[in-house]
Amino acid sequence: MGSDTYRWLAKYYDHLFDLHTPFEAARQRIVEPLMHRVESACDLCCGTGTLAVQFASRGIRAFAVDLSPDMCRLARKKARQAGVTVRVLQADMRDFRLPQPVDLVTCEFDALNHVPRAKDLGRVLKCVARALRPGGHFAFDVNNRLAFERVWFSTWFLERDPVVMVMRGGHVRGSDRAWTNVEWFVREGKCWKRHHEHVEEVCWTAAEMRAALAQAGFDRIRAWDAAPFFNDALTRPGNRTFWRARKAPP
Ligand SMILES: C[S@@+](CC[C@H](N)C(=O)[O-])C[C@H]1O[C@@H](n2cnc3c(N)ncnc32)[C@H](O)[C@@H]1O
Repeated sequence: MGSDTYRWLAKYYDHLFDLHTPFEAARQRIVEPLMHRVESACDLCCGTGTLAVQFASRGIRAFAVDLSPDMCRLARKKARQAGVTVRVLQADMRDFRLPQPVDLVTCEFDALNHVPRAKDLGRVLKCVARALRPGGHFAFDVNNRLAFERVWFSTWFLERDPVVMVMRGGHVRGSDRAWTNVEWFVREGKCWKRHHEHVEEVCWTAAEMRAALAQAGFDRIRAWDAAPFFNDALTRPGNRTFWRARKAPP
């Protein structure tokens, strides 16, 4: 993804997507048990900054990283409006670097799947490990190939004034890639303006994920199927996995 890909998605992200409940339920189960020892945290691929602002509101030293300048701007604005401090860094998840190590890194809503190539996973995990203090945790979720096969061919339509968004997904069977073409129709007075965005995702098997985490120095690797947290027809068992791993102490 280029740094300008999430332009319209950034602008209307909070307006259109309200998927936070299942992610909150998963976080409650997977991340909350660690929180009593978390003094600093970074939300990687932070989007509009909702989670980083939540961290900061709990008194946690909060960092947020995103490649999209528009997302970074919105995250800074959200922090300002909430009256909290979040250090927002515009950077690629494959080579980001925090000014100091943190206790927790999160990366939600299949953001990790957005790396350009599946083989970039190791680079991201290396950066996450560098960002964590020994004993710190990385919590994230990914779409699996089953999601690409089962739901990616659909067309989604979302309408919430002043935007209409049509998402058309695709996937080459047997491959680790999928894409979404997003057509935007934005009402400006009596006219509608059309914009186009293209977002791609890659995926990994559970075995590849475990091996890459171990290779990057993580232990206590645990996985949860997302279906019970979502409880909807889209997120069938196998489609999405929540992962948590610890940066192994020396
Ligand atoms: C599906 S959104 C998830 C946003 C947020 N985590 C949430 O839960 O709402 C994916 C995010 O990943 C960011 N992103 C995509 N590729 C990236 C990269 N290579 N490095 C950093 N951020 C990236 C996008 O700008 C976008 O904000």
